[in-house]
Amino acid sequence: MMISYRLMQARDVPGVFKVDQACFIHNWSQDSYEAETKNILSNYIVAEADGEIIGFGGFWQVIDEAHITNIAVLKEYRQTGVGQKIINAMLALALAKGCVGMTLEVRGDNQPAINFYLKNKFTRQGRRKDYYGAGLDAIIMWRYGLE
Ligand SMILES: CC(C)(COP(=O)(O)OP(=O)(O)OC[C@H]1O[C@@H](n2cnc3c(N)ncnc32)[C@H](O)[C@@H]1OP(=O)(O)O)[C@@H](O)C(=O)NCCC(=O)NCCS
Repeated sequence: MMISYRLMQARDVPGVFKVDQACFIHNWSQDSYEAETKNILSNYIVAEADGEIIGFGGFWQVIDEAHITNIAVLKEYRQTGVGQKIINAMLALALAKGCVGMTLEVRGDNQPAINFYLKNKFTRQGRRKDYYGAGLDAIIMWRYGLE
């Protein structure tokens, strides 16, 4: 199957919203993604297979830092390298835009995602207690240097 990786466009919003709904417990609204297409700080990559959005990832560029907002791949496509290709595209885009680091928050019990980031040279740099609710801490991860 051919999967293409490209920048998100306004017409991708329903598909991105569908992936969000399928992958997260705390969901963004479709309006939030709509707003992201107009936000000059936002940069989103989508993965598309046969006209369907199967994954996406985004970051906000804050001066020279890239803050990941969300990254997700539909369950049936996971562990086949789609997430890796999405983050590769995000890292390349952030580097091209002059970013020197990338950061994110991830739930402390989300081991697949933590492994995913560790593999991509992110390291644990902090913790926000109860960020996702009582007993659900966020791990703050950073990658310094995007080359
Ligand atoms: C995190 C996520 C985007 C990874 O996407 P993916 O397409 O499955 O990732 P890939 O197949 O490209 O895997 C790349 C690497 O990530 C790690 N990884 C991915 N899934 C993993 C799992 N279930 N267990 C352990 N490590 C995993 C591995 O190191 C893997 O490299 P390898 O294949 O050489 O072992 C996906 O699991 C997902 O959508 N999760 C739900 C949403 C989410 O939690 N997002 C993160 C919010 S911070």
